[in-house]
Amino acid sequence: MKKNRKSLAIAAVLFVFIVFLSQCINTKTKPDPRGAAFATEQSCRKCHQAVYDSAVTSAHFYASAAATAKNVLGNFNAGHNSFIYDSITKVVMEQRDSGLYQVLYKNNQPTEARRFDLVFGTRHAQTSLYWQDDHTYELPVSYYHAVNNWGTSPGFSATVPNFTRLIGVDSFECHSSYISHKKNSAAAGNYFAADAAVELLEKNSLVSGIGCQRCHGPAARHVGFHEQNPNIKTASFIVSNKTLNRQQQLDQCAVCHSGNDKRKLQSRFMFRPGDMLANYFLPAVVADSTNHFDVHGNQFNLLKQSKCFLQSNSITCSSCHDPHGNATLPVAVYSQKCMGCHTEAGGNFCTLTPAAGIALKDNCIDCHMPKEASGAISFQVSGSAVSSSYLLRSHRIAVYKAAVKVN
Ligand code: HEC
Ligand code: HEC
Ligand code: HEC
Ligand code: HEC
Ligand code: HEC
Ligand code: HEC
Repeated sequence: MKKNRKSLAIAAVLFVFIVFLSQCINTKTKPDPRGAAFATEQSCRKCHQAVYDSAVTSAHFYASAAATAKNVLGNFNAGHNSFIYDSITKVVMEQRDSGLYQVLYKNNQPTEARRFDLVFGTRHAQTSLYWQDDHTYELPVSYYHAVNNWGTSPGFSATVPNFTRLIGVDSFECHSSYISHKKNSAAAGNYFAADAAVELLEKNSLVSGIGCQRCHGPAARHVGFHEQNPNIKTASFIVSNKTLNRQQQLDQCAVCHSGNDKRKLQSRFMFRPGDMLANYFLPAVVADSTNHFDVHGNQFNLLKQSKCFLQSNSITCSSCHDPHGNATLPVAVYSQKCMGCHTEAGGNFCTLTPAAGIALKDNCIDCHMPKEASGAISFQVSGSAVSSSYLLRSHRIAVYKAAVKVN
């Protein structure tokens, strides 16, 4: 009896020691795939706790993530987990021992099962990817908050399930901090061969989410210096946003928020604060004569069309957004930002004579930045023949007569 207890105690001590050791090895020896100039993202917390704790709950931080049960949105319970394509074809979202799956059934027989490996997005919708060799593929069914339900992944058919849509490095450049990739020999040296089929992605090099150093640049020297010099309170070895001009500040966001239809000059993973967008994209191939930009992912070009942008020389994205937070403030708070420039006293306030009962000051947003359907993203829910619209704020601040209809 006594001997048993002793060996049990030794085993327990050993176990704790091994767990401790393996954690040391995990965190200490895994180098950052981006190179030694990058610190671990967690290291920022020690000195920037408030910013860090806010940023790790933001949509940027979850722009891509491992498809764990915690990160995957949507209902996996029977009765809520199927997408019906026709009387004999459906895709069912299933929880299995080895993870979460989308399973294709023909006549109630499973014919193809693909695991949720990665998720992209949390705020409005979430789409998922699976790994196969050196490629990622988008799963045919996505989750949409607007309907609190599953729907076709953007651009996918609602009648024919498709598991073969390749997702190339382009999408990772907007949704993650890094993934290493190379072209296969057929396309080597040609950056414009931006065809996902020729890109080989390296699974283990993925740095998921949009972390601190994606926006601020590599910070290992900054961390090293301030750890050694705790008494120095001014920042060293990091680009200060205060030293950037307006265009540089805008470009820091526009690198991902100016649409995805332009020809690329170099990988957006190389973008550092202070860089100019012009070094990353060629001018649009076909000048857009209609000047119509999609509300999805092109906030920069829409904002640029606004008189507020053109005739003030101070608006940047940070005028209204905390880069470490979420765009989930009440409209009254955003309206305060408008009234920072538009006041009755200044003679440039709203010229509308509102109908009785409408308080202009609570909500400049719904009238002057109305929600519009994205042309780039539409989806169908199971059993519906029509597309649901994907509504986002237009960043073209203007007078929209249609938005004012008051019953
Ligand atoms: C050992 C402490 C320490 C660590 C760790 C640290 N910083 Fe800093 N950082 C500072 C100090 C000190 C300043 C200057 C005072 C301030 O702005 O808070 C600063 C300022 C900054 C600034 C503002 C620069 C400016 O002038 O506007 C940024 C951006 C920044 N750090 C990013 C990071 C990132 C990203 C990480 C993690 C990779 C990080 N820091 C980790 C100490 C640290
Ligand atoms: C989406 C891009 C983005 C991400 C991600 C991001 N930052 Fe920032 N950060 C900015 C911008 C832009 C500013 C300047 C804000 C301004 O002009 O008001 C800034 C300012 C700062 C500052 C100085 C001012 C302040 O608020 O204290 C620090 C320190 C900082 N960031 C640290 C971090 C750390 C640490 C992380 C990760 C936890 C991080 N940032 C993630 C864009 C970003
Ligand atoms: C590396 C690409 C990238 C950069 C750089 C970037 N963003 Fe984003 N941003 C995204 C993606 C992707 C999403 C969508 C996440 C989702 O769908 O949940 C997003 C979402 C947002 C949102 C919406 C968040 C919400 O809560 O709805 C705001 C606001 C935003 N970004 C502002 C900015 C600003 C301001 C900057 C510059 C300081 C910036 N972004 C830089 C990729 C980027
Ligand atoms: C940095 C200052 C600034 C901010 C912030 C700002 N504006 Fe403006 N806005 C201007 C200037 C300058 C003009 C052009 C001159 C004028 O009409 O006063 C303008 C013009 C406008 C116009 C006329 C547009 C047209 O096409 O005729 C509207 C409407 C407007 N702003 C609404 C808003 C709303 C709503 C917000 C908040 C979401 C806002 N503005 C935020 C500076 C600003
Ligand atoms: C004049 C204020 C203002 C400016 C400047 C501004 N935004 Fe916004 N943004 C908003 C408002 C208001 C919303 C909607 C928030 C909501 O509905 O909860 C929003 C939402 C967003 C969203 C989420 C998409 C959506 O429709 O919910 C993204 C992404 C975004 N902004 C990016 C940017 C970027 C990038 C810039 C700079 C190019 C920028 N914004 C400049 C006011 C602004
Ligand atoms: C109920 C919808 C509604 C609300 C709320 C509203 N506006 Fe307006 N606004 C309009 C309309 C419509 C016009 C054009 C009126 C006209 O015919 O002169 C207008 C005109 C303006 C103009 C002048 C545009 C020009 O031609 O130069 C500005 C600036 C403006 N609004 C700013 C604001 C601001 C700032 C707020 C929030 C404090 C706000 N508006 C709230 C509907 C609205």
